[in-house]
Amino acid sequence: HNHTEYFRDVRIGVIGGTGLYSLDGLKVVETLTIETPWGQPSGPVTIAETARGHKIAFLARHGPAHHVLPSEVNYRANIAALKAVGVQVLLAFSAVGSLREEIRPGDFVLADQFIDRTKGNRADSFFTGTGVTAHASFGEPVSAALRALVAQHGDAVPAITIHSNGTGVCMEGPAFSTRAESNLYRAWDADIINMTCIPESKLAREAEITYAIVCMATDYDAWRETEEPVTVAEVMKTMKVNAVNAKTLLLAALPALENAAYNDPEHALTKSETGSMQYAFQ
Ligand code: ADE
Repeated sequence: HNHTEYFRDVRIGVIGGTGLYSLDGLKVVETLTIETPWGQPSGPVTIAETARGHKIAFLARHGPAHHVLPSEVNYRANIAALKAVGVQVLLAFSAVGSLREEIRPGDFVLADQFIDRTKGNRADSFFTGTGVTAHASFGEPVSAALRALVAQHGDAVPAITIHSNGTGVCMEGPAFSTRAESNLYRAWDADIINMTCIPESKLAREAEITYAIVCMATDYDAWRETEEPVTVAEVMKTMKVNAVNAKTLLLAALPALENAAYNDPEHALTKSETGSMQYAFQ
């Protein structure tokens, strides 16, 4: 990358999901309102400085006041805004439902595969309407190197289990799934379900940003016969605890992330997604 083409050199990005609206513990140095060619992101990009003096860019996926629904998030603007400040490595957080007994509410899953059950209403490519025919590889939608880096810091949150992989269904929402759908996804071998990892992960890949997502289980969705199906109140209650664990995990992993992003340009984290784009015609 030629960093001078971006208007900052902030290489690490963090997207906060439901319940994770800010990054306490880090010094805020700038709050940027960014207009992208795809419109406005969900909120300002907050630039914060770590104890080691590196910068990270934070964006709340649903906006600072949680007013943007999953179907209404401008995913292109969010990714473009982070790219514009120089982000090369992006760690996203998301509240998810669990489709497996062993993924308990409160547990984290470093998802490595996705099944797209969105309804085709989400703008999901930077190439739409550009006349450029491009295809991103998406067989491995998440960076294995970034997942491994995060997994290595699981000891920071001993009270919960971090599952090192898992398949996530991305549904449209806003209503949660029926019991039949929930059971169908289990039969498909899916482990968790959310409403946002598509197209966010896809756009990160098109932008050649190394991406991983920490999926924080809040509920057992609707499949469990012995329990009432998921409610918003349940999600919000578990999310309060999850947000504390998310910040602890992030702060623990941050020195390694900084090392990879700032001190070692040859590191797999910053190299793994480059060259993932194939242009057929320009
Ligand atoms: N986010 C949190 N819990 C969820 C669920 N059960 N289904 C979809 N998205 C979710």
